[in-house]
Amino acid sequence: MSSRAVTSLSNPTVKAVRALHLRKERDETGLFVAEGLKNVTEGVELGHAPQILMYGRDAGDHPLLQKAVQATLAARGEVIEVTQDILAKVSRRDNPQAVVGVFRQGFRPLSEIDPAEAPCWVALHRVRDPGNLGTIIRTADAAGCGGVILVGECCDPFAVEAVRATMGSIFAVPLSRASEAEFTAWRQRWPGSVVGTLLSAAVDHRGADYRKPSLILMGNEQQGLPPDMAGLCDVAVKIPMRGRADSLNLSVATGIMIYAATG
Ligand SMILES: C[S@@+](CC[C@H](N)C(=O)[O-])C[C@H]1O[C@@H](n2cnc3c(N)ncnc32)[C@H](O)[C@@H]1O
Repeated sequence: MSSRAVTSLSNPTVKAVRALHLRKERDETGLFVAEGLKNVTEGVELGHAPQILMYGRDAGDHPLLQKAVQATLAARGEVIEVTQDILAKVSRRDNPQAVVGVFRQGFRPLSEIDPAEAPCWVALHRVRDPGNLGTIIRTADAAGCGGVILVGECCDPFAVEAVRATMGSIFAVPLSRASEAEFTAWRQRWPGSVVGTLLSAAVDHRGADYRKPSLILMGNEQQGLPPDMAGLCDVAVKIPMRGRADSLNLSVATGIMIYAATG
């Protein structure tokens, strides 16, 4: 493998990768960090070459690591072998993954979405929690959704916590983002059902008309869907709850809705 060894935390590449924990830095550079050989391999297999690839001695001569190294070098990226201490600082974990890749972020403009590509799509209004967002992206991938659309001010899908929760699906699921006004205008041309989720809805989610391609609209963790967003839906549904919990976790509710729409 063609790489150089780096042992100092003040190395400029190491500093640049550590800085990607900050949203401001991710927004400015358009880069993000994916940890672990599985995630990095997923990116490489889906045609995203790392711009920077770091690995520790523990990664050894794994054939998948060699593939990632080749993809990085072919794309004129940088490959460095680093110490365990550097890996721990980069991932802010005592037991870091032995491989870390830095990739370019990508968003698909709403205008480039072809609804006919998939039977189900997911829109999230003002999602706040990166773990929820990553879990939803992973579930959307598993169920074969066409993409996830982030509406309004949302948390960053490329935050380290979100990327971890996607388990590699960050590379497989196209992401789009839109202001409330852009989403409202775009939704008017949606050819299938737009299904909103509201705790106050009267319709059971199992009985709704999921005319394909269906677009599932989910609300924010604290406030739920505001009236203007709920007003965009053809139907609002509720997932029945029998115990004392007053709502479901957002990512769990989204998973139930995705499988109701695609099942
Ligand atoms: C934690 S809940 C929000 C609770 C918020 N206090 C409210 O009044 O809507 C986050 C999102 O998950 C979805 N959700 C959670 N439980 C649901 C249920 N039982 N039926 C339908 N949607 C649900 C909705 O999209 C909701 O906006």
